[in-house]
Amino acid sequence: MKDPFFTRTVLDWYAAYGRDLPWRRTRDPYAIWLSEIILQQTRIAQGQAYWERFMARFPDVRSLAAASEDEVLRLWQGLGYYSRGRNLLVAARQIEARGAFPDTLAEIRALKGVGDYTAAAIASFAFGIPAAVVDGNVYRVLARFYGIATPVGTTAAKKEFTALAQALLPDDNPGDFNQAMMDFGAMQCTPAAPLCPTCPLAARCEALRSGRTALLPVKKPSVAVQTRHLRYVYIRCEGKVAFHRRGAGDIWQGLWEPYLEEGDFRGFPGMQLVRKAVKHQLTHRTLIADFYRLDCAERPSLPDGYVWINETELDRYAKPRLIEILLDD
Ligand code: ADE
Repeated sequence: MKDPFFTRTVLDWYAAYGRDLPWRRTRDPYAIWLSEIILQQTRIAQGQAYWERFMARFPDVRSLAAASEDEVLRLWQGLGYYSRGRNLLVAARQIEARGAFPDTLAEIRALKGVGDYTAAAIASFAFGIPAAVVDGNVYRVLARFYGIATPVGTTAAKKEFTALAQALLPDDNPGDFNQAMMDFGAMQCTPAAPLCPTCPLAARCEALRSGRTALLPVKKPSVAVQTRHLRYVYIRCEGKVAFHRRGAGDIWQGLWEPYLEEGDFRGFPGMQLVRKAVKHQLTHRTLIADFYRLDCAERPSLPDGYVWINETELDRYAKPRLIEILLDD
């Protein structure tokens, strides 16, 4: 829904405090497109020098389209994510082939290397098309101001925040509003320590009212899967085996397992490999386990925490599923 207070306040703030950046002083879609591609994964302080060099060497689409990939990548050197540099050249040739820079959201979005965010940025900055940009800054500002707890990174959040940002766009200058949201999120409503005491939205900010600025936006738990390599040695001595109980702050808290080494593996002389690279999937971790046996006449010295338990009584100890599997055969 429209919210004149929010939209006007952000625009006024931008007029007073917005950053003066060279690609904001032009409506040349080529210059704007170039800046947005460079800024996709690069900070302004670093990106600006590259943008200036590109503009000096390739002042328009035609000159860029005529360049070799080598030359573009040499100029891109140091920015990282080199597919951006390659896509830049592909897109320049797309534009050159169609005769002019595309001037609708859909056609801009069709350029190589241009996603929803970049398309909305170019369309609104260069052509005044009312398309809202929705990035991390926008999520943060809206989630806090309106107290929205939908986890970011979900499709539901993308729909919800896009619709809201779209409704908040002013009819007359959507580009300024988009730039304003970027700066407001980067400079005022910052991730770790938002400047609430000087914030012009504070009077109506739901996160501030309810003390949730640190809790919003809500992040989806990272699904990044960590891989861990476990080496178990089933050490058996006079009918007893060496086990320990896992501590807090890691997987399998309180469960029992045989002698374990993670990382550099020293092991013991005389041990025998029984199972190799058994894969076991936990929610956020992939475990790869090797399983050894060591039958010995004399108990080796073990790190603190290990105890010798009767092999006949192993059933009484709660063990992770992976250990049950390894012991089963
Ligand atoms: N990051 C991506 N696009 C930007 C822009 N136009 N201004 C500031 N930061 C940005």
